Amino acid sequence: MTRHHALLRWVEENAALCKPSQVHWCDGSAEEYQEMCRRMVEGGTAETLNPELRPNSYLVRSEPVDVARVEDRTFICSQTPEEAGPTNNWADPEEMRQRLHTLFDGCMEGRTLYVIPFSMGPVGSPIAHIGVQITDSPYVVANMHIMTRVGTEVLEALGESGRFIPCLHSVGYPLRDGREDVAWPCDPDNRYIVHFPETYEIWSYGSGYGGNALLGKKCLALRIASVMARDEGWLAEHMLILKLTSPQGEVQYIAGAFPSACGKTNLAMLRPPMPGWKVETIGDDIAWMKVREDGRLYAINPEAGFFGVAPGTSYDSNANAMASLTHNCFFTNCARTPEGDVWWEEMTPEPPAQLTDWRGRPWTPGTPEPAAHPNARFTAPAHQCPVIAPEWNDPNGVPLDAIIFGGRRSDTIPLVQEARDWHHGVFLGSIMGSEKTAAAFGDLGALRRDPMAMLPFCGYNMADYFGHWLRFAEDEKLKLPRIYHVNWFRKDSNGRFIWPGFSDNARVLKWIFQRGQGAVEARPSPIGALPLPEDIDLSGLDLDATTLQQLLEFDAAGWQREVGLIREHYARFGTRLPDGLERELEHLEKAL
Ligand code: GTP
Ligand code: SPV
Ligand code: MN
Repeated sequence: MTRHHALLRWVEENAALCKPSQVHWCDGSAEEYQEMCRRMVEGGTAETLNPELRPNSYLVRSEPVDVARVEDRTFICSQTPEEAGPTNNWADPEEMRQRLHTLFDGCMEGRTLYVIPFSMGPVGSPIAHIGVQITDSPYVVANMHIMTRVGTEVLEALGESGRFIPCLHSVGYPLRDGREDVAWPCDPDNRYIVHFPETYEIWSYGSGYGGNALLGKKCLALRIASVMARDEGWLAEHMLILKLTSPQGEVQYIAGAFPSACGKTNLAMLRPPMPGWKVETIGDDIAWMKVREDGRLYAINPEAGFFGVAPGTSYDSNANAMASLTHNCFFTNCARTPEGDVWWEEMTPEPPAQLTDWRGRPWTPGTPEPAAHPNARFTAPAHQCPVIAPEWNDPNGVPLDAIIFGGRRSDTIPLVQEARDWHHGVFLGSIMGSEKTAAAFGDLGALRRDPMAMLPFCGYNMADYFGHWLRFAEDEKLKLPRIYHVNWFRKDSNGRFIWPGFSDNARVLKWIFQRGQGAVEARPSPIGALPLPEDIDLSGLDLDATTLQQLLEFDAAGWQREVGLIREHYARFGTRLPDGLERELEHLEKAL
């Protein structure tokens, strides 16, 4: 097992608190994974899919109230509310600890407590970190097997005194007094996703779903890691990482921050339509970045799998994702075909004639509600992706050439803009806006500011976070990546997307690549450099000149409105907002 005293004590204390009927230390083995699947099938949580169609894969239906991250139940418990900042839910750490102790007391009665030692990043990487999750959910154990590196080698790396981030999780459904288990145990009225940034601790209660329950992902790799990164001088970001190779064989590495369900997985795996260009995947959701001796920023993907949005994924839109899903996967809240395969909206041009929907009800084409939940997800091992880059496992990470920010904006924001410098790039990231998606509970489509796609994921005051980003520019020896802002989601007056998006986004990546080489000019504008229309490679694409012009124009009237909204957004941070950003905004207002 382990001779790490602090870890043993932490497990003992929590076993005493949660009162499970047994404790199981996870070794990360294939047998253990199969055993978790067996328990889920036996308990009604999972259905085995047809092994001829989808070998070693399972369909899981969650409770209809437990289908996405719950941002209003997510807390940052720093000593003072100011440290959490205006964009986070703050709660008093002492009061919260008491409440959690009451909730966790006996919460695992009748269940097994699983201890999952996991590494975020290749074991032993100088950028990686280790977490240990306690959970009472076999679904979480199996999904953590896919999403992180689990097992004995992690305990070995931890040694007797290594640092680990404690992550305590319970679905909050004790089997006491003869209470029967249910297919998807949870406690929807008492959900708490809690972070203690000062002690790097995570407590999650009442939900079994995604980012609420797979604690390595948003809780550790973003909320707690963002605090560690601030304290230690690195960056933990909601970013995909891709490798772009030109027909001449030159390589650039690009990271991109887009809010939840705004296209990271798609961009990370796209198949460029331009002959000779190649995209390979390093990560699709999270990037941890550290400066190395050569002054460059190196990024790793701390995860080992994809927890991707299913609806909209097809051989047409994202063939590499589809090819990653052929076996060894979980499908959560997808529909089921009579043959025992999964289906979701847009997987095929026509839906099958008969389905069982994500709630287990019969479904036929024309039913008003979708067959799969809009936030239905697949869990797939990263190594199954046909275009996974060989260096995705490199403990040193990859040196970044460019960083892209982008939101879902139907108007105003051009297809692509290039920041004048790092400082201006941080400004562009800090004012990012996006229309809300189904990845989190809330009003769909409403425009909200989502700086760097980190609004739900920054573990401390976002004004300080901006300051942390800006500080990288103070060291002149650093060779920082260039920064861009993109928007794939412009719409016409009929509400139709005017940019084809998906694989055609490679045309914008090519421009970014060529800008990095100094191979193409750009025209300056108040919001940064914009492409000359002739420099966007449209070969093989039917896009008229007027639409392209609209995509690349600087919309002065739109930006006048935008500036007002940015002022409101910045006002939330009061005097804590870095002066440098205030100056960027003044500069923009003058230029308008
Ligand atoms: P999270 O896993 O929630 O962080 O999401 P993500 O950023 O990885 O988003 P993903 O790539 O899964 O895409 C989410 C949705 O956006 C899917 O339904 C896609 O079909 C759609 N989408 C992705 N890229 C594009 C694009 O370029 N244009 C349009 N119109 N839709 C896109
Ligand atoms: C997101 O919402 O950004 C996700 C899915 O990647 S979850 O893991 O549920 O947070
Ligand atoms: Mn995400």
